[in-house]
Amino acid sequence: MDPLTPELEHFIHSLPKAELHVHLEGAIEPETVLTLAQRHAMEERLPARDAAGLRQWFSYRDFGTFLEIYMVIQDLLRTREDFALIAYENGADMARQNICYRELTFTPYTHVHFQRKGVRIEDILLGLEEGRQRAKADFGVEMRWVFDISRNLSFPDNGMLRYDPEPGIRTLDYALQGRDYGVVALGIGGYEPTAPGRYFRAVFDAAQAAGLPCVPHAGENDGAQSVWDAINLLHADRVGHGVRAWEDPTLVRELAARRIPLEICPTSNIQLKVYPAYADHPFRRLDEAGVIVTVNSDDPPLFNANLTQEYRVLAQHFGYGKSDLVRIARNAFLHSLAEPGTKARLLAEFDAWVAAQETGKQEAAGV
Ligand code: ADE
Ligand code: ZN
Repeated sequence: MDPLTPELEHFIHSLPKAELHVHLEGAIEPETVLTLAQRHAMEERLPARDAAGLRQWFSYRDFGTFLEIYMVIQDLLRTREDFALIAYENGADMARQNICYRELTFTPYTHVHFQRKGVRIEDILLGLEEGRQRAKADFGVEMRWVFDISRNLSFPDNGMLRYDPEPGIRTLDYALQGRDYGVVALGIGGYEPTAPGRYFRAVFDAAQAAGLPCVPHAGENDGAQSVWDAINLLHADRVGHGVRAWEDPTLVRELAARRIPLEICPTSNIQLKVYPAYADHPFRRLDEAGVIVTVNSDDPPLFNANLTQEYRVLAQHFGYGKSDLVRIARNAFLHSLAEPGTKARLLAEFDAWVAAQETGKQEAAGV
């Protein structure tokens, strides 16, 4: 694969970006994973004592092995200061990549109930808020939260034997409590095949009734039916991943007609074996079929990636040029769940940046 030209590299770096699908707990850099493990004397839970060793650990046979590593990292988060730290560091990462706005998915139930480590929802809400506000003050970045239900913990027998509604009910409650602290939506993540969307109807009905937008993961580790459930049963305002909608042409037409955006995470899909290679990935075909696409990094350090790299993938593997990159970047601003004032400001700033590029080009050409 040819490298990008320095000019396109520069363009991608400076492009103002919004990101709608990234997990806070999956976005902790290995150095901070080590800091947290030392802080809580939990180093024995990690297979390495340095960042390079942890990066080697981040390789997956399948979605199950990914989730095992993910849960170890989640378990290292134990205090209000920990949540503040990872939120603040995430904001610093945004600034480095010119990401102005990010919606970060976070799974409160795991910390408060499943991992039995004495974390209270107040520690989470106040910690996240402290980190978010400090990041805004220091870097000018806007962060919002999506609280998501764990599919896996909703089926504690690790199969479809017994559905436990508790994780869903609690997560919705926490999301509603968090609305004053930047929570903008209810999500659901985890392994789809053994926890189908239909079980979660009641909780997403309740979210909708409370005026909370819904952004379920679907169509990642299960096929088109999971996406149908997301849009017909779970009130999806956007779909996390959604790429396997490509397996059903009627569904592709439906997503396009109903203008339900997909939060596509190409590198995550390769790393977690949804597709063998970028050449097999349907990003461009979905886009050309009229589906609203956005590009996202999901769990960036865990895939040795970041959002900037995903834009490089769009150019190198999917053949997109600058005007398409601008269009795809704009989709994320357009379909964010930020309150109307912030959204309008960010869109105006994005459009002004694009206009300035055009002016710069004309001036350079002596027009
Ligand atoms: N949680 C963290 N990353 C996820 C992914 N890619 N799919 C589902 N749940 C997740
Ligand atoms: Zn995800």
